[in-house]
Amino acid sequence: MDKKTIFSGVQPSGILTIGNYLGAIKNWGAFQEECNCIFCVVDQHAITVRQVPADLRRRTYETLAIYIACGIDPEKSTLFVQSHVSGHAELAWALNCFTMYGELSRMTQFKDKSKKNADNINAGLFTYPVLMASDILLYQTDLVPVGQDQMQHIELARDIANRFNTVFSPTFTVPEGFIPKTGARVMSLSEPTKKMSKSDENVNGFVSLLDDKDTIIRKFKRAVTDSDTVVCRGDEKYGINNLMNIYSCFTGKTDEEIVREFEGKGYGDFKLAVGEAVADGLAPIQAEFNKLMADKSYLEAIMKNGADTANRMAQKTLSKVYRKLGFVGRL
Ligand code: TYM
Repeated sequence: MDKKTIFSGVQPSGILTIGNYLGAIKNWGAFQEECNCIFCVVDQHAITVRQVPADLRRRTYETLAIYIACGIDPEKSTLFVQSHVSGHAELAWALNCFTMYGELSRMTQFKDKSKKNADNINAGLFTYPVLMASDILLYQTDLVPVGQDQMQHIELARDIANRFNTVFSPTFTVPEGFIPKTGARVMSLSEPTKKMSKSDENVNGFVSLLDDKDTIIRKFKRAVTDSDTVVCRGDEKYGINNLMNIYSCFTGKTDEEIVREFEGKGYGDFKLAVGEAVADGLAPIQAEFNKLMADKSYLEAIMKNGADTANRMAQKTLSKVYRKLGFVGRL
């Protein structure tokens, strides 16, 4: 049987958070042994919002280093930078012509980001889900491991693939999303009804994968909870539900075990324990990250290799698409 193809990516638009880790990267490694895995640093997506060029460049290296530090093995998976493979932008143009204005207008991320960047609602922000569909469809992807917030974009990628396949003949594999049972939607620590985001202006809302132990513990101590005192889940206990999810992801403990552990103790003890579990969980990742960042040429060799491999796969799909569209092949 053919190996399944897995594709996913993260924008280098900020230092990655534990939301990116628990919702996405932590789950990627499990596919490496049995699947054809492709993980991309999606720099072209990042410019839908203004970036400082030097920061974007540095974060592209950092994001790649984080993938590897989180257990993605460049010997087993293809790791590359999106702008190094021109097929992404090329396919996006073709698929723009198979995506409806109405579909893009309904994307919740577009609505949210337009509100946040009211002075820069550019066309890229609007057509961004088409570039994401291209990332996925270019590699004939079967499965896309992501957090909950990306599922709407994956649904759109499926619709675009089906539409193209119907207008012409089967061309694209129709991908499926894969979200983890716990950690698919990590919430902000300061506003637990909002998603944790690496671009949040309030640094206390997110925990970065590179925060030091003291910072992590301080952020968890400050986490917004509720006026109850018992550590257990509740419909309106957004903060505690979120902390229980995070604690469970980092310790593997079930809800019952957590409730038992903190029986008779208060929120303060619980928050401290979550902070410590997260700091301990991130320590080996940070150590590996620091080693990798000290060896830029190693990261560059991976980028180069990955781009070559990805480009070969991408060109296969792209030439198939161009043929079906009726473009005369380059002579
Ligand atoms: P991005 O960069 O916003 O986030 C990267 C991944 O992290 C997940 N994630 C979260 N999961 C749980 N809780 C959170 N608070 C949280 N915040 C982020 C996201 O769901 C995502 O899986 N458009 C994508 C990047 C992308 C992509 C792709 C992903 C571009 N092309 C193709 C998969 C396939 C994005 O902006 O992710």
